[in-house]
Amino acid sequence: MRPFTLRYGETVVHVGEGALGMLGAHLKARRRLLLVTGSRSARESGALGDATKMLDGLGISWDIYDGVFPNPTDSVVDEIARAAREGGADALLAIGGGSVVDSAKFAAVIACSGGEAREYLRGTRSPSCAIPVYAVNLTHGTGSEIDRYSVANIAEEGLKIGMETVYPRASADDPLYLRSLPDSQTRYTTIDALYHALESATSTARNPMTASLARESAEIISRWLPLALDRPRDLEARTNLLYAAAIAGIAIDNSVTHIVHLLEHVLSGINPRLSHGAGLALLGPRSMRYVHAAVPEESARVLRALDPGIAPTSDHAQRAEEAVREFQVGVGIDESLSDYGFSEGELDALTSKAMEIVRDGAELVPFEVKPEIVRDILRSAF
Ligand SMILES: [Fe+2]
Repeated sequence: MRPFTLRYGETVVHVGEGALGMLGAHLKARRRLLLVTGSRSARESGALGDATKMLDGLGISWDIYDGVFPNPTDSVVDEIARAAREGGADALLAIGGGSVVDSAKFAAVIACSGGEAREYLRGTRSPSCAIPVYAVNLTHGTGSEIDRYSVANIAEEGLKIGMETVYPRASADDPLYLRSLPDSQTRYTTIDALYHALESATSTARNPMTASLARESAEIISRWLPLALDRPRDLEARTNLLYAAAIAGIAIDNSVTHIVHLLEHVLSGINPRLSHGAGLALLGPRSMRYVHAAVPEESARVLRALDPGIAPTSDHAQRAEEAVREFQVGVGIDESLSDYGFSEGELDALTSKAMEIVRDGAELVPFEVKPEIVRDILRSAF
């Protein structure tokens, strides 16, 4: 696949080999950047070195905040915003996966609109403006480099909340920096993109464009994820997965996610060691049984990318569950919630907590969210 440029609203995403270098044209009007990264992948992938060389060449000064970790908390977001303000940054450049890009987008809002992250997460303050954000995306999962969402945790409350923050001005989906992505992240970030496709195509906010993007994304993932796991340094596979994740990002930007993401946020809010993708994979197959039973035509259209024999009828609900589970097992995903310290004895308590949190997004789920369904989905993850 030759390099290309996607335009989505005012966001420009460069996809393909050399995409990082294309950001230079967008950044050259900036004076001082705060680079936002995690502790390892930006450096180990080579993206940080290449980005700083580019900035030095353009005469743009920069500082770095490298403290973002998976399932980031509100205090990390506040620290980034503080570093941006104190360093006089006029823009942020996120270099990392979803946690890094999400945190930078959220901090860009706080750096301009004021306040603290938890006020926004609790809904007592709304974004009024943001400083510009640019992103070098280092996973093929969240779609954060093209959408308007951020997710953060209020750690002591065990709450993980997604909210609208800001679109990046420009992003790079450059496969050169994904060659060193570990297998587990290759799997789980792609599974995140797959559920963005499955959920956006079946949410109550679905639309025809979302359905097309979701189907295309699921087809690419079903073909290229096994290849990327076989040949991690294959740039064609990485580029295809980056594209699949980006269009799934547009799909959720239009039509949102629903039951799988809502329930996953409950679990990784309680145990931040549970990665987003791993949590989705645990809850997803059984969830898709209920989804298929409720909206079989929409569900079959996207699930046929995994199993061409799935019919657009409710009696194929179990086959829908099996199709997703078999695909996951086929790419090496076969875990249980017990692997993350949860026990079946907690099912009632987990169900009650989930019901409280799920209430906020229940209108997006294509079936009525009853406690017995939530309990069954949670139970299937053990
Ligand atoms: Fe996600």
